[in-house]
Amino acid sequence: MIMNPIEVRGKTILISGASRGIGKAMAEAFRDAGAIVYGTGRSPESISWMQTENIQGRAADISKPGTINPVIEEIITKHKKLDCLINCAGIASNTPASAFKEDEMDRIIDTNFKGVFRTCQAYYKAQKKNGGVIINVASVLGMIGVPLASIYCGTKGAVIQLTRALAVEWAASDFRINAICPGFIDTDMTVMIKERPSVLEKLTANIPLKRLGKPSDLTGAALYLASDASAYMTGQLIVLDGGLTAM
Ligand SMILES: NC(=O)c1ccc[n+]([C@@H]2O[C@H](COP(=O)([O-])OP(=O)(O)OC[C@H]3O[C@@H](n4cnc5c(N)ncnc54)[C@H](OP(=O)(O)O)[C@@H]3O)[C@@H](O)[C@H]2O)c1
Repeated sequence: MIMNPIEVRGKTILISGASRGIGKAMAEAFRDAGAIVYGTGRSPESISWMQTENIQGRAADISKPGTINPVIEEIITKHKKLDCLINCAGIASNTPASAFKEDEMDRIIDTNFKGVFRTCQAYYKAQKKNGGVIINVASVLGMIGVPLASIYCGTKGAVIQLTRALAVEWAASDFRINAICPGFIDTDMTVMIKERPSVLEKLTANIPLKRLGKPSDLTGAALYLASDASAYMTGQLIVLDGGLTAM
């Protein structure tokens, strides 16, 4: 008998950046598995589709301090607990390192690093007495370098280190914090690759599984990390990249 199956039925989950792409696939997977799912996006428009999909949508721009706090407080007031936070919101750019301007650097760092940190902090403070689970969506670009993604790579490396540091600091409060590191996944974020067939061809030739990932390729790992099946796992990474970083 499996003591801790992958089971999230009845758990309350908050996913930032659930309006599109990877976060949307995760929101749908957790809903289908019987969890109570709250998902955020930047604007009321981007989350409006959730109304008919049994997902609670809330607009909250995580690059601005304080915006996620009322969402977390609302969930805990209503459900008495927030079992799991998934930090999926993120942005990328395609900018030569020599051309980065301050405002573009700030936008990426404020969203991908400070926004993730603030959301973790707000969740910890609100849920401190009960413990919790955090899943950060980092990237293989936090582990390897590629051209035109210097600040993005930096923020994702920082999220990996943040995951480890918070896991150690908050273990005594019964929090588990892990990260998922996707490779190249077929979403709006990779449009700039898909629009250039020669770049796409070269990239997929270097991926042992010979294709981009699909958002649904990541949902099993998220369900595992949110469930008690991963009860003894904290401060770790799950890399889902078709073998890219195994070479
Ligand atoms: N696609 C890949 O190849 C890949 C690989 C590795 C890691 N990742 C990471 O996976 C995560 C999701 O990426 P994706 O490919 O699904 O991207 P996506 O399709 O572009 O979706 C990005 C999501 O983040 C939200 N978002 C962006 N800035 C936000 C902010 N300031 N506040 C709140 N929400 C914000 C967007 O909301 P709106 O719809 O409202 O704009 C949207 O829901 C990101 O952290 C990304 O870095 C992606």
